[in-house]
Amino acid sequence: MNDLLKKRRSIRKFKQQPVAPDLIDKLARAALMSPSSRKINPWEFIIVTDPELISKLSACKEHGSAFLKGAPLGIVVIADETKSDVWVEDTSIASVIIQLTAEDLGLGSCWIQVRKRMKDSSTTSEDYVRSVLGLPGNYKVASVIAIGYPAETRPPCDENELLYEKLHSNKFGNCMKL
Ligand SMILES: Cc1cc2nc3c(=O)[nH]c(=O)nc-3n(C[C@H](O)[C@H](O)[C@H](O)COP(=O)(O)O)c2cc1C
Repeated sequence: MNDLLKKRRSIRKFKQQPVAPDLIDKLARAALMSPSSRKINPWEFIIVTDPELISKLSACKEHGSAFLKGAPLGIVVIADETKSDVWVEDTSIASVIIQLTAEDLGLGSCWIQVRKRMKDSSTTSEDYVRSVLGLPGNYKVASVIAIGYPAETRPPCDENELLYEKLHSNKFGNCMKL
């Protein structure tokens, strides 16, 4: 697990190759294993492999989503907001679980933020994704996780560069020695 955490970096360039169906199944199952508050499981996942839809989704923001166009797979993480008041936390956890599972399967991934983002000056990214995918109004859109076989390498996390000053021992302000 520690190695997985070190190795995982955001990957935004992908090989053209479609993701193998058995790996897509594993990603989908992993998403459904995500913990959620009171086990309400307000999240749902749209597994998008249709290149036309992926291309449309890549235009969901002015910045930070165009690279999705080059990905063979996008998992759109949504939630029924009427089911849980902490759907944001639940969908965030599920998004990370998808990313770590992707890494474990030899795939690269990157989170694309949709919630609270704008497509342009008049349309929210969420409304845009809603119209592209036909989502009912009670569904909120948290993220799109772009996934594919990596076509770029990123250096793993360097433990010497971790932000150790953000760790406190017992009380705030007490430096934690590791
Ligand atoms: C909540 C969240 C939202 C993010 N949104 C985007 C995004 O919209 N576009 C993007 O290219 N990267 C996005 N990222 C990826 C971050 O930029 C990336 O995780 C951060 O720079 C650290 O790099 P690393 O993942 O390679 O360690 C997001 C990450 C998180 C956790």
